[in-house]
Amino acid sequence: MQTIDSKTEPKRNEGPKFEIVTRKDFSDVTYLLEIRHPLMAKAAKPGQFVIVMLNEHGERIPLTIADFDREKGTITLVIQAVGKTTKEMQIACQVGTSLYGMVGPMGIPSPISHAKKVVCVGGGLGVAPVFPQARAFKESGAYVIGVVGFRNKDLVFWDDKFKACCDEFIICTDDGSAGIKGLVTEGIKQAIAKHPDIDEVVAIGPPVMMKGCAEATRAHKIKTMVSLNPLMVDGTGMCGGCRVKIGDQVKFACVDGPDFDGHKVDFDDLMTRLRRYTQEERIAMDRWTETCRMANLPAATPAVPGASKPKGPARKAVKSPAKNS
Ligand SMILES: Cc1cc2nc3c(=O)[nH]c(=O)nc-3n(C[C@H](O)[C@H](O)[C@H](O)COP(=O)(O)OP(=O)(O)OC[C@H]3O[C@@H](n4cnc5c(N)ncnc54)[C@H](O)[C@@H]3O)c2cc1C
Ligand code: FES
Repeated sequence: MQTIDSKTEPKRNEGPKFEIVTRKDFSDVTYLLEIRHPLMAKAAKPGQFVIVMLNEHGERIPLTIADFDREKGTITLVIQAVGKTTKEMQIACQVGTSLYGMVGPMGIPSPISHAKKVVCVGGGLGVAPVFPQARAFKESGAYVIGVVGFRNKDLVFWDDKFKACCDEFIICTDDGSAGIKGLVTEGIKQAIAKHPDIDEVVAIGPPVMMKGCAEATRAHKIKTMVSLNPLMVDGTGMCGGCRVKIGDQVKFACVDGPDFDGHKVDFDDLMTRLRRYTQEERIAMDRWTETCRMANLPAATPAVPGASKPKGPARKAVKSPAKNS
């Protein structure tokens, strides 16, 4: 009979660690993690994403590679705390800690066309995933017009970084506290009025924003690419959870996208599918909040823009219901 020596046998959770080397907070809900992963940094291309697990019991969540540094061997994720896992990560992910799992780069890289004049549009958190595309278009010799939108000036992030790879830069806020007052569609309209020769628009943000961008360019017949964020489970084309309607075809965003022709996307279907597990998500959030309360931990971190959050002891995660189709 074979005996197992507990001293020499590798423990189940002894695997590669994905160390967090930088953490920044842009607002009370948006934070950046820079993670050491030389191979991922080498392979990553604009538009691709990773699937991460915070801990052994954690849910797998897809996150876009917002930046990569091949020399440093790091990738950057910008995350919005919207539910159980992203809020749990907001507390747990501090410099020096590690993610339990990360797979990628996944998805088809964004097609960086030979367009000569491009408008790159980012709405809110969408500013982060559209940045690598703006940079790639600039590197390919295109004239790049950046249009970014936020609810107000306190939520603005990466404006300098984005501006650095743009020939023109338009910032829009809902309340007019920075740049022009209005939605990113106002910025697109301004860009089109000034430049009748725009070849392509790339828009990333909430589905309703991408829908508005696609409508703003449709009459002008400007090619418009969007990046879709349906619910994903395996990320390998096996579960069908991420199916989206593109014209008269059904596609899986994880393997056929996530970038698609915005004029063909059925955004209403996407938004309906995104709301499908609202109740299960609320239950998972409530159970986790209760666990935090029992362990005397903050369920959500306070708004301290620019500051790192206090470290908390490790907690046992509450597994949220599987998001299957
Ligand atoms: C290709 C892709 C790239 C993404 N990139 C980013 C990113 O860079 N930064 C970021 O903050 N978020 C990104 N998301 C969304 C992110 O995956 C979800 O916000 C996250 O899974 C929510 O998990 P939760 O437990 O915190 O919230 P939940 O309570 O589970 O959900 C809150 C809301 O998030 C959405 N959501 C939930 N699960 C998923 C899922 N598996 N896939 C997609 N959406 C989901 C739903 O609309 C839901 O209403 C991306 C999604 C996709 C598909
Ligand atoms: S997440 Fe795309 S098919 Fe499962």
